[in-house]
Amino acid sequence: MAIRNIVTKEDEILRKKCRPVEKFDERLWELLDDMAETMYQNDGVGLAAPQVGILRRVVVIDTGEGLIELVNPVITASSGNQEEYEGCLSCPGEFGIVKRPKKVTVKAQDRHGKTFTRDGEDLLARAFCHEIDHLEGILFLELADKIVEEKE
Ligand code: NI
Repeated sequence: MAIRNIVTKEDEILRKKCRPVEKFDERLWELLDDMAETMYQNDGVGLAAPQVGILRRVVVIDTGEGLIELVNPVITASSGNQEEYEGCLSCPGEFGIVKRPKKVTVKAQDRHGKTFTRDGEDLLARAFCHEIDHLEGILFLELADKIVEEKE
């Protein structure tokens, strides 16, 4: 495993749409392992592949309930609303309030290509939305009403 460099918001790669993963091979597993290690090293709750320079639909999340690996994730259902501060490892020192669904259901594949679904509420729902946005080239900065340097 290795810690990878996290690209910051100035990098055009963060604005690009990611391609689906087609091969569930050792290269994918290495990417997933490295992304988890990089996320933990930086005290993040989520990381998307474009943040380490890879334009593939791969996400890791840990909101304190254990590591979740998502390959080719899609949100299949959402309900309710929440408004909370959000940040991003690619936008250090910037926070903004973003409206997100309170609950979401995600359908994804695991590292072996097996399809599963996972429900998330509150912070986990937010993390699902934020990371899947990254795969579409969307940063939370575009969704927040106001960006601040510290959470109020
Ligand atoms: Ni982010």
